[in-house]
Amino acid sequence: MRIPMIAGNWKMNTTVAEAVALVKEMRPELDQIDNVDKVICPPFVSLAAAKELLAGSSIKLGAQNLYFEEKGAYTGEISPLMLAELCQLVIIGHSERRQYFHETIELVDKKVQAALKVGLKPILCIGETPRENEAGKTEEVLSRQLSLTSEQAYHTGLVLAYEPIWAIGTGRAATGEQANQTIGFIRRYIAKQHGREIAQSVRILYGGSVTADNIAEFIEQPEIDGALVGGASLKPSQFLGIVKQTSEIKRVK
Ligand code: PGA
Repeated sequence: MRIPMIAGNWKMNTTVAEAVALVKEMRPELDQIDNVDKVICPPFVSLAAAKELLAGSSIKLGAQNLYFEEKGAYTGEISPLMLAELCQLVIIGHSERRQYFHETIELVDKKVQAALKVGLKPILCIGETPRENEAGKTEEVLSRQLSLTSEQAYHTGLVLAYEPIWAIGTGRAATGEQANQTIGFIRRYIAKQHGREIAQSVRILYGGSVTADNIAEFIEQPEIDGALVGGASLKPSQFLGIVKQTSEIKRVK
């Protein structure tokens, strides 16, 4: 049984004061919801405050990125060890990082390994651009993006997020069926690479314009284990709605 996960990616939004207010507002109701791993990923500067506010809560904390080196002369970077003290998960290889900060497949894999080394669970993001999608290259791109991910990474609890780039922040989500099909492909690819057992146990989330109004369409699909939510994760009623529906729908399945 794969436990569903809903992760909120706050991206470069909220000051510390705003983040504190948001956590305070969401914690009581979120805490009540079971049967779902609930994760919020505020900006680095708010992690310490969020950790304190979430003491004793069932809500998990994630970062949005890390650098792969342990420490040293890397001005402006944040190491895995620094994060391990503050949170349990870390988003790695988000398409915005690949696109705007030129993160390569090799770099992304180094980050995954560095996270695992200190016990941080990576949420590894993969997904194709609109052009790749239109050219029928989705499966080829996803295979390449997963080609370096080790069996060890899956064993240690790595979570995948399939986020078609054309659906991120555009309000144009994939359909549940589309996402289910592509995630089905991802599972078959992992089965070929590392065996059926790993493919069946890895959690694969969908991401891209998920809201409380369309989450059910995704969660009802058998291959989809949850969602990585951007914009809607900053709105308490939206995020709560997404988590609640996920808990209910996956419970009856
Ligand atoms: P979105 O972002 O929900 O705002 O489309 C998703 C993501 O980038 O993780």
